[in-house]
Amino acid sequence: MKIVLLGPPGAGKGTQAEQISKSYSIPHISTGDIFRKNISERTELGIEAKGYMDKGLLVPDELTIEIVKNRLVEDDCKNGFLLDGFPRTVKQAEALDSFQGKKIDIALLIEVPRESILDRMTGRRVCPACGTTYHIKFNPPKIENKCDKCSTALIQRKDDVEETVKARLDVYYEQTEPLAKYYKSSGVLRTVDGTKDIDIVFKEIISVLG
Ligand code: AP5
Ligand code: MG
Ligand code: ZN
Repeated sequence: MKIVLLGPPGAGKGTQAEQISKSYSIPHISTGDIFRKNISERTELGIEAKGYMDKGLLVPDELTIEIVKNRLVEDDCKNGFLLDGFPRTVKQAEALDSFQGKKIDIALLIEVPRESILDRMTGRRVCPACGTTYHIKFNPPKIENKCDKCSTALIQRKDDVEETVKARLDVYYEQTEPLAKYYKSSGVLRTVDGTKDIDIVFKEIISVLG
């Protein structure tokens, strides 16, 4: 199963991807996570990506496409993969289509209206050690500000401040939303309502994926 997850920042792509990846035993590949890992390890890629991410802008296509291309030829992608946050531009989608044997089965769009996004982003907390995502209201950890899985103190993502979230939303509607049309025309687009509770959205996704 080769799946692409689409949806605005805060739609719940990462949250749902974690569960989908477990259920279907396919690797969860998030370009955002790859960039953040590189930033924390202060690699050359991380230093370059940080400049764009902190402003809420997209990392250039050439760089991003190369990273995904190299990731998808790894062994664990043989039986499929779940891409989260890639593609994000028509150019990236065309590149993905051109990779040999990597034709997408389903592009799953998690729909959440713009008005609901800000609340989700400003309340998000993440574990810097294992990457688990929480929300102070909608998905709180068992102990305040501590990761359920590894007890590490939770942090806020640097790009989750209001001003940057707004910039990311503008970028989404301008550059990424057109991908829904792109995948609709090739007949692989499926849509789920991302405004419901996390568990309900997951059930809907499972019924769509079959
Ligand atoms: P990336 O990390 O991909 O961020 P994003 O697309 O903006 O999406 P988010 O991770 O913010 O949201 P999500 O949909 O995963 O939501 P989550 O599950 O966490 O990208 C970051 C940056 O990297 C980009 O801005 C760009 O600079 C760069 N980048 C990455 N990929 C790139 C590419 N391909 N090309 C160029 N640049 C790229 O949920 C959000 C919150 O809501 C959480 O707190 C969660 O607990 C809560 N929540 C989730 N579901 C629900 C629900 N159903 N109800 C209530 N709350 C919920
Ligand atoms: Mg995410
Ligand atoms: Zn953790």
